[in-house]
Amino acid sequence: MPVYTIRPSLSLRGEVTVNTSKNAVLPIMAAALLCNTPVTLREVPELTDVDSMARVLSACGAKVEKSGRELTISVRQLLSPRDAAVMRRLRASVLVLGPLCARTGEAEVPLPGGCAIGQRPIDIHLRGLKAMGAEAAQENNLAVARGRLTGGSIYLDFPSVGATENLVMAASLAHGVTRIENAAKEPEIIDLCDFLIRCGARILGAGTGTIVIDGVRQLNGTEYTPIPDRIEAGTLACAAALTEGSILLSGARSDHLRALLFKLRESGVLVQEDARGLCLRGRARRAVDVRTLSYPGFPTDLQAPMMTVCCKAKGQSVFLETIFENRYMHAVSLCRMGADIRTEGRMAVVNGGQPLYGCTVEATDLRAGAALMLAGMIAEGQTELVDEAGHIDRGYERLDQKLAQLGADIEISDGKPR
Ligand code: EPZ
Repeated sequence: MPVYTIRPSLSLRGEVTVNTSKNAVLPIMAAALLCNTPVTLREVPELTDVDSMARVLSACGAKVEKSGRELTISVRQLLSPRDAAVMRRLRASVLVLGPLCARTGEAEVPLPGGCAIGQRPIDIHLRGLKAMGAEAAQENNLAVARGRLTGGSIYLDFPSVGATENLVMAASLAHGVTRIENAAKEPEIIDLCDFLIRCGARILGAGTGTIVIDGVRQLNGTEYTPIPDRIEAGTLACAAALTEGSILLSGARSDHLRALLFKLRESGVLVQEDARGLCLRGRARRAVDVRTLSYPGFPTDLQAPMMTVCCKAKGQSVFLETIFENRYMHAVSLCRMGADIRTEGRMAVVNGGQPLYGCTVEATDLRAGAALMLAGMIAEGQTELVDEAGHIDRGYERLDQKLAQLGADIEISDGKPR
């Protein structure tokens, strides 16, 4: 159980390298189940969610070998995973549903887990598979999809990232052409489609609201390096915005972070984009309003770190979280530290500029944990951030070390009494 001890860190300086994206790596790992020959992923981040996904693929009959930051996935005998505990470790486990149904015509997948930020149903995934001719339903804690997939016309009631990924993967081996309307446009969708096209898939429109997939008979494995993690980069950018400093986020893709960078600039942070990545100077001074939206809107995964920034900036910031129904759990802990935040349903009002005071707080989910680590850096005194479930390690590769490398005063202990 990691416990982070965080003390005031009022100036960050230097350079850190951004890892490849957790939310690109996980769907591409699932897509490897579609391939007849091995897939090798490069520069894979050291995350517990990646380890969990490897266990999910093994439960589906794949062989997953890790060598440093290289992951090789080869499919032997595909089967539906039986181990519900493994599937509940992360939300992305649902992404094996489409590939298993496409390859075997029969998929029974224990329902996924994931952060408690919302109810997180899978109805959009199932409706899309039905439109491709599968019998798809939720039966006794299982997501079930059976039948030979044929091309179909699909409209997503919500531009769900996971549903778009599942359905693009399923359609890649379906018999015929599939058209997905109101598809998610996230960079991770484009990366998944780029990977699949590299494997021989025929896909048009990735990154737009309409994706057309012409199913092929088989896909062959390839070697691939996923895109940089825009949420890790955005979290580090928020850390820079909290402290007077100057940091270079090497490898960050500014074109994936337009909404956040606009808000940080609006708040007074100097942001420079160059071939190396993103350079941020100065600190957030003015309050800004934040409405989370599907890409290219402000990413819900940066709502919590941005709320910490708004606790520091003077003035009233109004948040509207339109993606998940329970994503303000970090506000409770920020208030314990002295922040003035009122939440009502999907809205939160932050009266920034109040001093924060260190105390013991708990990570309730992945991005909330990151937001509280950032808050400890600007709080007076010492903050103990208890991460009992290891949320932070699920999605950040040693965030504490990266911040310490920039000058933050953060130590980690295993939380066991000495
Ligand atoms: C992905 O989750 C990401 N996870 C999330 O990141 C991210 O917050 C989310 O997309 C939105 O950008 C991964 O990529 C592994 P959704 P996903 O399906 O696919 C509702 C992080 O911190 N919905 O776009 O689960 C759902 O309840 C994580 O890295 C349905 O109603 O997100 C939610 O309210 C957190 N029915 C909204 O859509 C469905 O069938 C967005 O969900 C599917 C989704």
